[in-house]
Amino acid sequence: MGDTTKKTRAEIEREVRDLGWWYQDFDLPSGVRTGTGQEPSYRPEERWAVFAPHVPEDLSGKSVLDVGGNAGYFSIQMKLRGADRCVLVEPYREFAAQAGYAAAEFGVELEVVNEDVHTYCLTTEERFDYVLFLGLFYHLKYPVLVLDRLAEMTKDRIVFHSYSVEAEGVSGRDLERDLDRADDAEIDQSDFPAMKFIERRYNDDPTNWWFPTHTALEPMIRSAGLKVVARPHTQLIVAEPEHPLGKVVYSKLVFPKYAKPGGPVHPGPQQVDPELWQKLLQGRDQES
Ligand SMILES: C[S@@+](CC[C@H](N)C(=O)[O-])C[C@H]1O[C@@H](n2cnc3c(N)ncnc32)[C@H](O)[C@@H]1O
Repeated sequence: MGDTTKKTRAEIEREVRDLGWWYQDFDLPSGVRTGTGQEPSYRPEERWAVFAPHVPEDLSGKSVLDVGGNAGYFSIQMKLRGADRCVLVEPYREFAAQAGYAAAEFGVELEVVNEDVHTYCLTTEERFDYVLFLGLFYHLKYPVLVLDRLAEMTKDRIVFHSYSVEAEGVSGRDLERDLDRADDAEIDQSDFPAMKFIERRYNDDPTNWWFPTHTALEPMIRSAGLKVVARPHTQLIVAEPEHPLGKVVYSKLVFPKYAKPGGPVHPGPQQVDPELWQKLLQGRDQES
């Protein structure tokens, strides 16, 4: 007997439209496309093509975390490569519902957590083999906190993508030396890693907060305890834990480096320029 419950293409088309506006515009197995082909939707296949070569073809036995996973395109690809488990974190109910729907259409199961990534990361004790942190960093008010925490939660690999803004160069100069005040002019250079703070709406989206420069991505990844293994796109980095930190249970805090045997010690007395404060005051008086 044939499958009498099989939906027609028209039914799927209607269900897809009933789920609202889709940011991720991709083909479902029926051939129905989620988006309309109009911007601001985008084609996640293009991003997948960039980092898929850095993900094993066979993910059996592996777990995946996809934060800001939207309609689930990347989670679904990871499941189609055999991942055992995939947790998708998405705070907007509409997108979380789309992810559940798209996964069902592909016949795969996702654990969709309808939650903000800060809350999720800072309250879970889970760790994952693969972590996808794509297109989300610049939407966060506390982005580096989340990056550090996701680094702790990564066992094998993290794929990190962030919108980033022009700087001279991409990876930045070698900064593997300590800086002091004599280097302030260098810090002012346009290729120095920087984060630009967005106070108001950008692109009519109130969730844009910080735009790193291209040169800031690798130093931030390194300072999270990760090693850059590939940078297949200016805005995309594949990284692995360099200093595995193990499972962190320490009252679920996010700063496990401190107050631990072997943790950092304060570097000692810091140089202070006693005249700087006065100079800045004078500058302000002259401006007003
Ligand atoms: C630019 S989209 C990127 C979607 C997907 N990761 C991709 O690369 O195609 C940003 C996604 O992050 C979600 N998002 C925004 N703020 C978030 C937050 N605080 N926690 C988790 N996800 C968030 C948005 O709803 C959206 O699905």
